[in-house]
Amino acid sequence: MSQPQRFEEITQVNANQFVQIDTGSRQNGAHTRIVRRYYEQNTNLFFRLGGASSYAIHRAVWANGVKTFQEAINYSNTQLVEAIHPLAQDTPTLKIADLGCGLGGSLFYLAQFFNSPFIGIGLTISPSQAKLANEQNKNMPMRNITFLEGDFFHVPLCAGLDVAYSIEAFCHAPEAAPYLNEVARLLRPGGRWVICDDFLNAPPANDQHAFWLDAYKTGWRVPNIHTVDSIVKQAQSVGLRLIKNDTFTHLLRLRTLPHRLASSIIKIAQALPFKHEIIPSMVGSLALQHCLKMGIIDYRFLVFERVDTK
Ligand SMILES: C[S@@+](CC[C@H](N)C(=O)[O-])C[C@H]1O[C@@H](n2cnc3c(N)ncnc32)[C@H](O)[C@@H]1O
Repeated sequence: MSQPQRFEEITQVNANQFVQIDTGSRQNGAHTRIVRRYYEQNTNLFFRLGGASSYAIHRAVWANGVKTFQEAINYSNTQLVEAIHPLAQDTPTLKIADLGCGLGGSLFYLAQFFNSPFIGIGLTISPSQAKLANEQNKNMPMRNITFLEGDFFHVPLCAGLDVAYSIEAFCHAPEAAPYLNEVARLLRPGGRWVICDDFLNAPPANDQHAFWLDAYKTGWRVPNIHTVDSIVKQAQSVGLRLIKNDTFTHLLRLRTLPHRLASSIIKIAQALPFKHEIIPSMVGSLALQHCLKMGIIDYRFLVFERVDTK
C-alpha cells in the first residue's frame, strides 16, 4: 500500500495520474472485490440509465417542496450542505472526502451550491467510476476536486479532514469497524462524518421478511445491514458523537409488486444462467422496495461530530 497522500499534494497533481496511484487495492478483501466487480459491470448502465444527468447513483427523496426528479435526487446533497455548513465559519478551506463517491455527483453538487471554499477528494472502489468522474470534472469551472480509485478501508489520505461522508456506500461494508476506524483517523476534532444509507429496523419477523431482506442483501452486495443503534455505539467508541438522526424512508416513492408476483420474478432472475451483475442489482432494487415498505429497512441521514479525545 502506498503512503497516505496530503490533500494539498493530491490537488496539485493532474487528475489522470490519480487513477494510477496504488491505493492498496491489492489488499482488498474478498467482499470488496465482489463490490468492485458489481460496479465495474454496472457503472456504464447506471450512467446511461439516469446517472448522466446528475452523476448520482442514489435514491430520489421527495421531501416537502421538492418538485422535480432532479431536486429529489439532490435532496441528500442539500442535507449534506446543511450538515457541513457550520464548519465553514472557522475554516478558510474545508477538506472534504466522499468515501464511496460513485460518479462524483455529490462533490459536483458541492462545487456548485456550497458557498465556501473546499478541496474535495472522491474515493471509489470502481476504476470506471473514477475515470468518468474525473472526465466530468475537467468540464467543471472550479478544479478543486479529484477522484481516486481506492478502498475506504485503507483511505490513501492523511489525517486532518474537516468532513468525511458516504451516501449509499457504507452499506457495502461487511463490517463497520474498519471503515469507522478510518473515519476517526481522518477527521480532525470537530470534523463531521455524514452518512445517508439503509439501516436495519429489526431482525426479520417472519419468512417473508427474511426472504426480502436476503434478496436485497445478496442482490446489492450489502452483506451486513446495521441497526442505527449499533452504528451509534461503534462510532462513539472511536470518538464520533451523533448530532443528527433523520429518517427519509417516508419521503421515498416506493414501487412494490404483489408479493407472489415479485417473489416469482426474483426466483426466476436468481436462476438465470446469464451472469451479468445487472441481474442481482435489479433483484436487489425490487427487494429493497419491499424491505422499505414493510419497515424492515429504514433509509436514514445521520451526522456525527469527531470529539476531541486529547
Ligand atoms: C450506490 S453507489 C453511491 C455512489 C455515490 N455516493 C452517490 O450517491 O451517487 C456506492 C458507491 O460505494 C463505493 N464503494 C463500495 N465499497 C467501497 C469501498 N470498499 N471503498 C471505496 N468505495 C466503495 C462504490 O464504488 C460506489 O461508488
